[in-house]
Amino acid sequence: MANEKYKIGMIGLGTMGRNLLLNMADHGFPVAGYDMDLAKLSLLETEGKEKPVKGFKAINEFVNSLDSPRVIVLLVPAGKAVDAVIGELQPLLAKGDIIIDAGNSHFTDTTLRVKNLSEKGLHFFGMGISGGEEGARKGPSMMPGGDKAAFQYVKPVLEAIAAEVDGMPCVVYIGPGASGHFVKMVHNGIEYALMQLISDTYEILRKGLRFSNAEIQKVFSDWNKGRLQSYLLEITSNIFLYKENGSEGFLIDSIKDEAKSKGTGKWTTQISTDLELPIPTIDLAVALRNLSKYKSLRTAVSKEYSQRGQIAEQIDPSVILPKLEQAFYFSMVTIYAQGMHLLAKASVDLGYDLKLAEIARIWRGGCIIRAAFLDVIHNAYKSDQQLQHLLLDGQLKKIINETCEPTREVVSELMIAGISIPCYANALSYFDALRSENMPSNLIQAQRDYFGAHTYELVGKEGSFHSEWNLEPEAKIQNIQH
Ligand code: 6PG
Repeated sequence: MANEKYKIGMIGLGTMGRNLLLNMADHGFPVAGYDMDLAKLSLLETEGKEKPVKGFKAINEFVNSLDSPRVIVLLVPAGKAVDAVIGELQPLLAKGDIIIDAGNSHFTDTTLRVKNLSEKGLHFFGMGISGGEEGARKGPSMMPGGDKAAFQYVKPVLEAIAAEVDGMPCVVYIGPGASGHFVKMVHNGIEYALMQLISDTYEILRKGLRFSNAEIQKVFSDWNKGRLQSYLLEITSNIFLYKENGSEGFLIDSIKDEAKSKGTGKWTTQISTDLELPIPTIDLAVALRNLSKYKSLRTAVSKEYSQRGQIAEQIDPSVILPKLEQAFYFSMVTIYAQGMHLLAKASVDLGYDLKLAEIARIWRGGCIIRAAFLDVIHNAYKSDQQLQHLLLDGQLKKIINETCEPTREVVSELMIAGISIPCYANALSYFDALRSENMPSNLIQAQRDYFGAHTYELVGKEGSFHSEWNLEPEAKIQNIQH
């Protein structure tokens, strides 16, 4: 590589960055990496031995080693670090160079960066990457958005390193602006809810049915062979087999029950509230992670209230397990449907012009929420690009109708037993509200008008109205505007 220039540069050689770079090198692209941490540089050189890979410890040498226009991928922690690196890079770059932020940046930061850098003649795009360390090495799912010309330039590299399903790469141009990071954020919102749903199931199996880890493992692994097949179920079933070297017990039993998060789930919840688009099961998954952090409070409360949560004596596992599989499917479908609904809303409100069928397609491989069910979602949006909500699709309607009643049975039985199953219960309630032509929200409107004169609208009449609710019954309705 003495005089030859490198095709792509990577800043941030943590495991993700290193693996992505090695993946590119495997596909024949000469690549350069930069990190201030010398240990990471030497790891890159060791792992990239015999491959067209070079590590640099001086940023100017790194930049100068790149082919023109330069393509620099950033895999640094979201937030200030991204701006710091961009600030350092800018004086070293030339017009037309391309910066790709491949971290989990907040989409509003990406919107600003796209604007600021394009004013300076630099191409910038935000690209969500999913699949964790293994995905980065062997084939992730990638969600690039922003500058389309820049995307076209790097497309061959991205297509080469992406996961493949049915011969198609799991990468596609998502849309303008920060759409790539927005879609990745919603991917993570769905991920949070699916993880909570699996954790609810763990709670049912261990506390309700008193299953051993081996029995729990079998349930998840059996489910993973059928229509519930997914990456998250696969890794979950492996978790229940795992013991540390030299240890008698399963590692899962020693892990603290306090879940951490880096923010993408919370951001999904925040933006859904701003866009007034309900994703209650995703919201709940974020809330449950937060509740898990209150260990001492939970311990105190648990001592004050008698414990229930045991159905093993009353319920035959062979009867409840098939119903639970149906309830899991129902809830899982509902979670994906909420995420897709949010994408549809953002597509219009934020001008992203998202192709939902394509997004479902690139989520079928490489990413954390990959699942057999994504084929159904892909087909639904392929046959109707304007589909208002996933549950209106014919195939989905069949699934929901088939799984809904067993879900009710499971939810009611487990709630009576006092087992915490927030995702199952919430998914069912969301569905019941969604299928209500008449919600009880007329009462909320009346209450708002009663205490705050916020007005209400009337069925079959134009305008907004106000009543003096606390006066005599014959108090007049005032028409506020027409
Ligand atoms: C992925 C993951 C990845 C990461 C999350 C974890 O798609 O590969 O979503 O982005 O594992 O950031 O998020 P939390 O730390 O918030 O659970």
